[in-house]
Amino acid sequence: EKGGHEYFMLKEIEEQPDALANTLRGHFSDGRIVLDEQRLSDQDLRDVDKVFVIACGSAYHSGLVAKYAIEHWTRLPVEVELASEFRYRDPVLDRDTLVVAVSQSGETADTLEAVRHAREQKARVLAVCNTNGAQIPRESDAVLYTHAGPEIGVASTKAFLAQIAANYLVGLALAQARGTKYPDEVAREFAELEAAPAAVQKVLSTVDQVRDLGRRIADSRAVLFLGRHVGFPVALEGALKLKELAYMHAEGFAAGELKHGPIALIEDGLPVVVVMPSPKGRAVLHAKLVSNISEIQARGARTIVIAEEGDETVRPFADELVEIPAVPTLLQPLVSTVPLQVLAAEIAKTRGYDVDKPRNLAKSVTVE
Ligand code: M6R
Repeated sequence: EKGGHEYFMLKEIEEQPDALANTLRGHFSDGRIVLDEQRLSDQDLRDVDKVFVIACGSAYHSGLVAKYAIEHWTRLPVEVELASEFRYRDPVLDRDTLVVAVSQSGETADTLEAVRHAREQKARVLAVCNTNGAQIPRESDAVLYTHAGPEIGVASTKAFLAQIAANYLVGLALAQARGTKYPDEVAREFAELEAAPAAVQKVLSTVDQVRDLGRRIADSRAVLFLGRHVGFPVALEGALKLKELAYMHAEGFAAGELKHGPIALIEDGLPVVVVMPSPKGRAVLHAKLVSNISEIQARGARTIVIAEEGDETVRPFADELVEIPAVPTLLQPLVSTVPLQVLAAEIAKTRGYDVDKPRNLAKSVTVE
């Protein structure tokens, strides 16, 4: 049932194009974004004046990615918060607050309690969930299902990508209801999203290269991940994958923070994975990251650079270069995360660990 793969996670990584396509299917018809099981009216969506995304672990990272898109499309303020923090403070919520609760399992205790708290405060709650009929969607006002299919590996892969796509659908639905995007712009954004599965399929051609790289750096003591803009949450996700699977110290940083502390960690031979923005789409950020890479390389870091194909400026600073297809900036996390998943899995395997069942972790965390 692993479909000829050594571990489920690799199978699930390869299922990501389908997970995305299935999650998007049916959500655009008659020129409009449609959300399923919608118990929120268009008027409710129009009234929204603030969005919270609450989640844990990888689902939280999917929210961090989506913040860039939702704020850009809707001009609504979006706060992304760990469910375990949200529920124990006193967040400002009312009936015009939309709380998006993201959970693969739909059973995560902290996220469920956060949903209950939000509903008590009269906020509208929309669940983004991969499991039919789970508790979180049952207790929410509306649900948007990700259709990633069952995820067996404890480390989230295809569900994570599907969560990003679903969160983007929520953003587009809000933009459409509020009129912050014209219908043709919404249609164009959706069409771009629909092209993502093919781009993810293309990035899967780097799997062998990245597995080989993983075997070569498997005895490192730590790995750092750097990114900016949407590449920052990707860096956090890459680090989380490595921690949970390979039991290695791994940290994700916003590259702009390097000089505010993390650069002190750089030492000879330390692998640093850098998620590059597009040289064309984000030229200013790209230039800043090139300068960051040259600085860390000069201090001895082993630079592993995830960059858009044809990005020649970065080549001299990359000890290892993994090329990803050129896609619009907001879609880049869907492709740049894939090599980081493969890297973590292969390092774990090389170190002799069970990739699908890392120690101390459960697939769904139903206790706090
Ligand atoms: O089922 P959920 O999406 O609510 O789970 C949230 C986290 O427990 C989950 O994403 C966890 O961080 C994964 N093991 C990460 O790979």
